[in-house]
Amino acid sequence: MTTAKIALITGANKGIGLETARQLGTQGITVLIGARDEERGREAERALREGGADAHFVQLDVTDAKSVQRAAEWIDGEYGRLDILVNNAGTASVTRQGGAPSQTSLDDMRAVYEINVFGVVAVTNAMLPLLHRAPAARIVNVSSEVGSITAQTDPASPLAQMPASVQYPSSKSALNMITAMYAKELRDTPIKVNAANPGYTATDFNNHRGFRTVAEGAEPSVYLATLPPDGPTGLLWGHIWTTAGDGGYDTLAW
Ligand SMILES: NC(=O)c1ccc[n+]([C@@H]2O[C@H](COP(=O)([O-])OP(=O)(O)OC[C@H]3O[C@@H](n4cnc5c(N)ncnc54)[C@H](OP(=O)(O)O)[C@@H]3O)[C@@H](O)[C@H]2O)c1
Repeated sequence: MTTAKIALITGANKGIGLETARQLGTQGITVLIGARDEERGREAERALREGGADAHFVQLDVTDAKSVQRAAEWIDGEYGRLDILVNNAGTASVTRQGGAPSQTSLDDMRAVYEINVFGVVAVTNAMLPLLHRAPAARIVNVSSEVGSITAQTDPASPLAQMPASVQYPSSKSALNMITAMYAKELRDTPIKVNAANPGYTATDFNNHRGFRTVAEGAEPSVYLATLPPDGPTGLLWGHIWTTAGDGGYDTLAW
């Protein structure tokens, strides 16, 4: 049985998830590449192995209960435990029908919630028995500052200047509460549960308009995935963006 830590990253075939896997892999952590599409997942597995990581593709569509269950069973059979879960898979809009709150497509909103909200609960609950078997597991929910009600309603925040929309920001607000509630349930265990804010990162997600590189965008996830025993739990932590510019890393207001 391997003594290396085992990390599962959902949506790890590209963007921040792929880079999170790469950075965790360079620390000697075995990285399980959760991807819904086998071809894209295998390609990521190949690229990470070429870079020296112990990477393994795991078919995982976070909206498909059978796929989630099969992934948990496979990890159980191979490793018997899970040290790190990074709930990274996410989307802003499935139909690209975003827009003002008054124009919200309920179909699109439901599809976004299936991935960003219900998918996280499904994967976390399927993996929790394995996480409990690790000595001190870490759960990272990749959230966003756009889910911070404090930032969205603070006229001094750059986020207050962005157009209003419902499905994505509210899905990340829900994810923030989900993070706080899992941290509460697990507070008397060694498991730490935190939400990461990558900051505005150049990926397919925003047609590469983000001003942070994926290497930077993955840093909050990697930091929270490898917290020491005296590290925090139940926080939204990561990049701070102010009207003055880059504010480094810190805890964000919910
Ligand atoms: N980029 C930013 O500025 C930014 C800022 C704050 C937070 N975030 C968050 O960071 C996370 C990663 O975003 P990103 O920028 O790296 O976006 P991305 O490049 O679009 O990657 C999204 C990943 O999620 C996967 N995914 C989507 N639906 C899935 C499903 N049902 N099951 C499994 N995987 C699924 C995608 O797989 P496919 O390739 O198969 O579609 C892809 O691997 C998201 O949670 C996002 O909300 C991003």
